[in-house]
Amino acid sequence: MSNIVILTGAGISAESGLDTFRAEDGLWAQHRVEDVATPEGFARDPGLVVNFYNARRQQASEVEPNAAHKALAQLEAEHEGSVVVITQNVDDLHERGGSRKVMHMHGALKSALCAACEHRWPAPMVMAPGDACPSCGSPQARPDIVWFGEMPYEMDLIFELLGEADIFAAIGTSGNVYPAAGFVAEARRAGAHTIEFNLERSSVGNMFEEHRTGPASQTVAAWVDEVLSRG
Ligand code: OAD
Ligand code: ZN
Repeated sequence: MSNIVILTGAGISAESGLDTFRAEDGLWAQHRVEDVATPEGFARDPGLVVNFYNARRQQASEVEPNAAHKALAQLEAEHEGSVVVITQNVDDLHERGGSRKVMHMHGALKSALCAACEHRWPAPMVMAPGDACPSCGSPQARPDIVWFGEMPYEMDLIFELLGEADIFAAIGTSGNVYPAAGFVAEARRAGAHTIEFNLERSSVGNMFEEHRTGPASQTVAAWVDEVLSRG
């Protein structure tokens, strides 16, 4: 019974029609990171930031999970050992694809967060700057997204899972953002077999023992079939 830990990034949702961040025409070519993905940017211009995530939320609601999301859900349902998806993505395509154990280490578009009291609630499709927190009433609602300079969620539990992993797979992530880019090293220390799924080798590609190159909808689905047929 092997424990499988999977890290996903924007590449797994690309074939569903969502932009990745670092492609030539990706989100970080269209928007300045400092403006839309930092606490300082939010303090300067909350409207710009809220609208950026409103647009992401709207787009995510208009697309469907693809074969890679669905294959991971099948893996979780049919593999005898544990299967956990740690995602850097803020869309809900893993959940809509059927996965149940999903950790959103960079937050989620579906969630709103009160900057005053840390209360969380389901975000409306369109948030407005200065929305009131339903718990404390403070007009400090923000998208529940982990911005640069903030600590990703559930890191203690994630490192525990990595320490017990037998297989670590990274899917559609460029390896530019830490701590996620360091998970492969941690999993290797724990003795896990490490596999990278990407269109090309990522910036931490040399850390992986195995590479599967190509669109995730194909490579991940084929891998899941293999793992399940091995039993
Ligand atoms: P990136 O945009 O940096 O990388 C996406 C990766 O997916 C690239 O390595 C692509 O080669 C690969 N890719 C694209 N299409 C693919 C496909 N069909 N099949 C397989 N691979 C494909 O996105 P992330 O690595 O997720 O953080 O970015 C990490 C974090 O940086 C994000 O969570 C976000 C961003 O700034 C925050 O906003 C906090
Ligand atoms: Zn509050």
